[in-house]
Amino acid sequence: MLHAAPGQSNIYSGYAKPATLWRFNGSVPGPEIRVRQGARLRVTVENGLAEDTTVHWHGVRTPNAMDGVPYLTQQPISPSNQFVYEFNAIDAGTYWYHPHQRSFEQVGRGLYGPLIIEEANPIQVDRDVTWMLDDWRLEETGEIENDFGNSHDMSHSGRIGNFVTINGKKQAVFSVSKGERIRLRLINAANARIFGLDFQGHDPLVIALDGQPITPHRPENGLVVLGPAMRVDLILDMTGNPGESDEVIDRFYDGLTYQLTRIKYSDEVIRNSPPDWPIQLPGNPLREPDLKTAKRHEVMFSGGMMGNMVARDMGINTTTSSSMMGMMHSKKIWFINGVAAEGHIMDPMLTLDIDRSHVISMTNASAWYHPIHLHGHSFRVISRNGEKTQYQEWQDTVLMAPRETVEIAFVADNPGDWMFHCHILEHQASGMMGVIRVA
Ligand code: C2O
Ligand code: CU
Repeated sequence: MLHAAPGQSNIYSGYAKPATLWRFNGSVPGPEIRVRQGARLRVTVENGLAEDTTVHWHGVRTPNAMDGVPYLTQQPISPSNQFVYEFNAIDAGTYWYHPHQRSFEQVGRGLYGPLIIEEANPIQVDRDVTWMLDDWRLEETGEIENDFGNSHDMSHSGRIGNFVTINGKKQAVFSVSKGERIRLRLINAANARIFGLDFQGHDPLVIALDGQPITPHRPENGLVVLGPAMRVDLILDMTGNPGESDEVIDRFYDGLTYQLTRIKYSDEVIRNSPPDWPIQLPGNPLREPDLKTAKRHEVMFSGGMMGNMVARDMGINTTTSSSMMGMMHSKKIWFINGVAAEGHIMDPMLTLDIDRSHVISMTNASAWYHPIHLHGHSFRVISRNGEKTQYQEWQDTVLMAPRETVEIAFVADNPGDWMFHCHILEHQASGMMGVIRVA
């Protein structure tokens, strides 16, 4: 049972006032739901908010009716009502849940939690740890700034906060022991912040992205990058010595580097050198897209501050060039193929033939990053700016840099109308959302 309701939480003890959060079961994050791959999940969601809500199981391949999109896949859960979600956990991996109704405020105030689907035979580690990352925009007292959904956030990089937390708290120290092997599951639950984590003296290996196994590898430039809604599973061997400590820093944004936490070694020694246990995860039952016969589709993202300039530079004719004043007033700021969404009920922007392979070529004709998420499916990221990706990674949310072109490929095998949107929740709320029909 998940009960969504407002409540007061102290995000950090140094603040005078607690913040008014919206929480599942009285905590942020909500309870970690853990099931074995193949199990059936049944969760009753009860709405204790003063407004409608739903729960979406981000990255999980559920039947369409269980996807938690208001009006599109279900009627929203009205205040003091319930809805029962029930589906099979097909793919192992790191996922999360969050409302899909006015997400920019509901998720932004703390309604989210981890969903871990364990492999039938998990790889061996000493500790399996989840870090749900988020940031908050707090006043000096510690109360939440109430300016959710303001037009500046919508037209720029989204609501970036001024206080970063791990599992809802400032975590100054992360205690470890020499020789310990940790599987660290990172989940970015922030509305808009992109994380670029540098473990400095440690050498993490990426073993899964968005829940899906990947060839174990060192992150590019030593930086573990997570756009909003993305997950990364790491193998982290604690190679330091008792009493030592080492910072984990976030250096994604130029000039805004800060310390996320400090890894601190206890006096205990678990072993003297890293274990030689295998770290390759077993694959999930995803269907392999056939690139030769795949049907191709083009998708263009445009809009936002400086969007007309970028589109002009790229030689793209945007028919959507509304003036900045117009954008501020209509909340139609972002466009997918020239259309700005106004809610969850819309005509499909694409209809994909079921049980066949598709390639979607996506162009970011804007000046901002966008983590693009497709519901109901995982896709392979096959190229970036025309160059084949090294790992052909499976993702459900792919971070696109300004002016970047990304191709994704997948078999459309889950029937229904699926949301396709930017996971910067302010961008989603101001137009950057569409429906892809699989039929
Ligand atoms: Cu994480 Cu459409 O959502
Ligand atoms: Cu976006």
